[in-house]
Amino acid sequence: MIRILLAAAILPVLTACTEPAPVSQAPDASTPDAAPAWATLTGQAPRVIAHRGASGYRPENAETAYRLAFEQGADILEPDLMMSADGQLIVRHDPYLSTSTDIADRPEFADRRRTLMGREDWWVMDFTADELRALRVRQVFEDRSSDYDDRDPVLPLDDFFDLVDALEAACGCTITTEPEIKLPAEHVAMGLDPLPALLDVLERRGLNREGAPVIIQSFDAPFLQRLRPVTPVTLAMLYGGGDDPAFNAGGLSLEEIAQFADAVGPHKSVLLNPDGSSTGYLEAARALGLLVHTWTVRDDRPPHVGESVEDELRALYALGVDGVFTDQPDTAVAVRAAMADEAAAD
Ligand code: G3P
Ligand code: CA
Repeated sequence: MIRILLAAAILPVLTACTEPAPVSQAPDASTPDAAPAWATLTGQAPRVIAHRGASGYRPENAETAYRLAFEQGADILEPDLMMSADGQLIVRHDPYLSTSTDIADRPEFADRRRTLMGREDWWVMDFTADELRALRVRQVFEDRSSDYDDRDPVLPLDDFFDLVDALEAACGCTITTEPEIKLPAEHVAMGLDPLPALLDVLERRGLNREGAPVIIQSFDAPFLQRLRPVTPVTLAMLYGGGDDPAFNAGGLSLEEIAQFADAVGPHKSVLLNPDGSSTGYLEAARALGLLVHTWTVRDDRPPHVGESVEDELRALYALGVDGVFTDQPDTAVAVRAAMADEAAAD
């Protein structure tokens, strides 16, 4: 066991001379990095989760973003999921379409704009999967490149899994995915329950089984509680902290969350104080056997800890997170490799 010193927070971590797995694996799969080294639940290297794909470089939730994330060495690909009018899960983060697609330039859809949730826009749940597939996706963040705008279609979840299948066939590897069900209660209120649609996709893809390389995440605790009896796949309860029940698991304790979830997905500020010290949340989750996948690390936004994104990643890895959602997988992969190299040289 070798001690690594964090550049910024000077936090110790016990690790060993192993390289992270070069390809994606199921969360509990045996991998070359399985030696008891990293401070993760399994002892495996922390997983790099491509947040909406490599969304720091490409339009989010687009084929090009997922392909780039895979090329950059991400272990897990994250699609956010909404529902279409005809009951298909659609890979979109926002329920409205004007900021992430070219729909405003489509005269055929001009009269489909309407006010919902206090906003005038076009809405995913008003369009069929085929209509959505005809749209082209765009960069959402004004300070990020728009060079890849208007190329890729909006992806139904089945199209996303077709892409995953193609990547797996090309690499001869298994790719773990971490779909997030967005706004399940709101969809149910509109007559669009995402649960049977999700189960249908998982069943058809052979993924509704113990050990499947898929993790289902949601901010909605009742949705995960409904899922628990009908699927053995890993379930992750997202957690933003604070007082808003939409982001604090409805006020449930970690002990209560552990009754139906296998993992928690806390915001990074829930785990680390600004000085880099632990809040104790990860240790409490770990004591209950919960995996911890934290969000969101971004190269182009101020870090929560330290002076740079590298400092922040080192602090999270040293703490023992099992996975990190990031918009720039290449940075998270590089920092993880650097920490392994430093340990090997120590
Ligand atoms: O799913 C983890 C994280 O992505 C939650 O935030 O809004 O980026 O989906 P959001
Ligand atoms: Ca998400």
